Amino acid sequence: MRTLLLSAAAISLGLGAVWACSSSSTGVAADAGAPPADGAVVARGEYLVKSVALCGECHTPRLPDGRLDTTQWLAGVDRRFDVEPDDDTRGAVSAPNLTPHESGLGGWSSDEIRSAIVDGAGLSGPLTSLMPSYVFHNMAAGDADAIVAYLRSIPPVAHLTSGRQKLTVPVDGPPAPLPEAAVPHTTLPSSDPNFARAERGRYLAGVAGLCIDCHSTWRPDARPPLALGTLFAGGRGMSRAEWGVVGDRTPAVIYSYNVTPHESGLAGWTPAMVAATLKTNLDDRKEPLCRPMPGGPMGSYGALTDEDALDIGWYITTLPPIDSGDVPQCPIPTPEVPPPPPADAAPDGPVDAGADGRDAADATDGADADAAG
Ligand code: HEC
Ligand code: HEC
Repeated sequence: MRTLLLSAAAISLGLGAVWACSSSSTGVAADAGAPPADGAVVARGEYLVKSVALCGECHTPRLPDGRLDTTQWLAGVDRRFDVEPDDDTRGAVSAPNLTPHESGLGGWSSDEIRSAIVDGAGLSGPLTSLMPSYVFHNMAAGDADAIVAYLRSIPPVAHLTSGRQKLTVPVDGPPAPLPEAAVPHTTLPSSDPNFARAERGRYLAGVAGLCIDCHSTWRPDARPPLALGTLFAGGRGMSRAEWGVVGDRTPAVIYSYNVTPHESGLAGWTPAMVAATLKTNLDDRKEPLCRPMPGGPMGSYGALTDEDALDIGWYITTLPPIDSGDVPQCPIPTPEVPPPPPADAAPDGPVDAGADGRDAADATDGADADAAG
């Protein structure tokens, strides 16, 4: 499988320019009834959907252990997000079924599917910015076509998700796309032998892929929804409930790290370390990262090609550094949990703990959070 993906990616790279030509010369893309797309195009689409654009992370239901249920691949998730969790009648947004069944994209033309992906245009009005079309907007036309071709090739699954509930944030237009020029370039000079790799990484991390989406501040009511001045500086909070995160030590909201090479982020990381984190989901101290960071063999990035993982590493480690201040790390002590009772503070522990022992307890919490981060 890995070999197949590798060769498909290699082939498709060579074909990128050809697709761009053919889709503009034929004008209208293949619709139902048109000849099936060729195998290399579908394979490129599959790779992008599974390992780069992460469509499955939102559009596939999860098993109780948090992994994606591949028997329901892209079949949609009812109430995938709930932006008003305290009100049952408002705020729930499903991630619809993307399979070619009538209850999914069965009745959609290729152009309609492409517009939903890159322009946030739904059949009955604009999609919310919970669907990251504002990132995908800048994707190469050939890659968007490959994704559409792949979606049309997968097995249809019957599953109708419920419609979007009323939202506090009005959806009176599609989310403004991220200006392509706002996605930072590598700071490597163009004469550097790794410049081209890093710029390929930029495409995978910030144009066709979603590092930029999870690792930037996000506001559903802003246009575009990502804070342009602090792209990649982390701080997006993600709800444990929405992302099906399991484990005792994960807080209700998990924050993404600053992945720029600043002291408050990834200063000191090499491209190979970033690549290893993507393939293993372990951090630089070999500690497992909290979901929804989708790394490792059980996560979407486990099947990234080594080449692509390293290109992303070259890009991330050569971004302009941004000071994010402290980003809460996972696992963090949750506010509802009272500090451990001071009673049996270790007899040979620190002697200058505050009168009520609180200082010692806080110090322990801090050390825990640090060691686990
Ligand atoms: C971060 C989560 C997330 C990711 C990643 C994501 N989507 Fe979505 N998508 C959604 C949500 C949520 C909606 C529904 C939005 C709404 O109703 O406002 C949606 C809507 C759609 C729709 C419209 C379907 C309909 O019936 O109206 C299409 C098509 C779509 N997504 C395709 C994709 C593809 C293809 C990818 C990967 C390239 C992708 N999505 C990645 C969350 C996501
Ligand atoms: C679905 C959201 C999501 C996506 C997509 C995502 N990340 Fe993350 N990432 C996170 C979260 C959340 C954390 C924090 C995990 C924790 O606290 O244990 C994280 C942590 C990390 C870390 C660890 C930093 C450290 O100091 O240990 C690195 C490196 C990283 N991500 C790189 C990336 C790269 C590169 C990409 C794109 C290829 C990416 N991430 C895509 C959510 C995401």
